[in-house]
Amino acid sequence: MNKEEIREFLKEVHHPAKDDRNIVDLGMVQDIDTEGDKVSVTLGFPKQRDPLKKYLLGATRATLIRHLGPGIEAEVKEVEMPSPEPAGKGTELTKETLLSVKHIIGIASGKGGVGKSTVAVNLAVALARIGYKVGLADADVYGPSVPVMTATEGARPEAENINGKDYIIPIEKYGVKWMSIGYFAEKGQALVWRGPMASNALKQLVLQVKWGPLDFLLIDMPPGTGDIHISLVQDIGIEGAVIVTTPQTVALADVEKGANMFRNENISKPIFGLVENMAWFTPEEHPEEKYYIFGRDGGARMAEQLGIPLLGRIPLVQSIRENGDDGTPAALSSRPDGIAFIELAGKLADRCSAER
Ligand SMILES: Nc1ncnc2c1ncn2[C@@H]1O[C@H](COP(=O)(O)OP(=O)(O)OP(=O)(O)O)[C@@H](O)[C@H]1O
Ligand SMILES: [Mg+2]
Repeated sequence: MNKEEIREFLKEVHHPAKDDRNIVDLGMVQDIDTEGDKVSVTLGFPKQRDPLKKYLLGATRATLIRHLGPGIEAEVKEVEMPSPEPAGKGTELTKETLLSVKHIIGIASGKGGVGKSTVAVNLAVALARIGYKVGLADADVYGPSVPVMTATEGARPEAENINGKDYIIPIEKYGVKWMSIGYFAEKGQALVWRGPMASNALKQLVLQVKWGPLDFLLIDMPPGTGDIHISLVQDIGIEGAVIVTTPQTVALADVEKGANMFRNENISKPIFGLVENMAWFTPEEHPEEKYYIFGRDGGARMAEQLGIPLLGRIPLVQSIRENGDDGTPAALSSRPDGIAFIELAGKLADRCSAER
């Protein structure tokens, strides 16, 4: 058995006083030594007394014996940790990682299924295509869409410890840095969260990620407009929002609900604009045709009534859905729908007066 394998199964030993994180991730395993029939593991403990030291030494030894089987001698030693990790530092969520992000923009809607994720993913790709550094956090912890829409389902983000803090490295594809809870779940596994857990997972997906310098960080907001959303906007420090709607969203009230998450007096963030998705239908075999099935100026009228600029209009075309399903965002193409996303990206950048 080699050291890597031993290190792997030592992850079964959890520190009950440190959010139940394992001793490997906590950086406590200082040394693994294999010599003949003997395996020796050295655990580091901070100078101040760890009341669970005895327990951890015992649990580590038991784990070694269980995996190594009879005939191998298991020894666990302790040393004083050279630079003790301040209590709680590894798990504390701060906005440090967002300091090098210029614009943090929430993509929201009042109603589900209007194409929020489709617009968010394509907008991210389009912003990257016109030269910006872009990241997207899929904040839909119940039904993440980013892995499928970018064909990154199998990706497993790596972790990196920077100054004693653990960060998740986002997945890069199509010039965009992506992060989604979907990268941490088995395929098809239902994600069941209770309120505070969901809220915390969500914050981690933004605050514990090593984004690096970005012009834009887009947040695909979870459906709904509840307290979780408002706290998200506050905790992350979202600069403003883009609201997605469809012309068939007859009820202005729905769109207004989405906008009010940001206009709430405690928050009062700007709405950069409205995106009218599925604004008209274009059949694949007649790309020059536009059918305004749900009326022509719904989006513009809605924008006017709400006092929000209309940022862009995206057609309803089969390829947008197909590209969403096969993970090659439509914004990569030079078809009219691809161009529509590029135009939208340009408008948003203007609104934020972003410099490339
Ligand atoms: N402009 C479009 N043309 C064709 N299909 C589209 C368009 N916009 C979205 N769709 C399709 O509609 C479906 C719903 O879109 P999407 O998942 O982006 O909506 P959503 O608002 O994020 O939904 P949810 O509220 O569940 O998060 C998807 O199958 C998507 O491919
Ligand atoms: Mg969605």
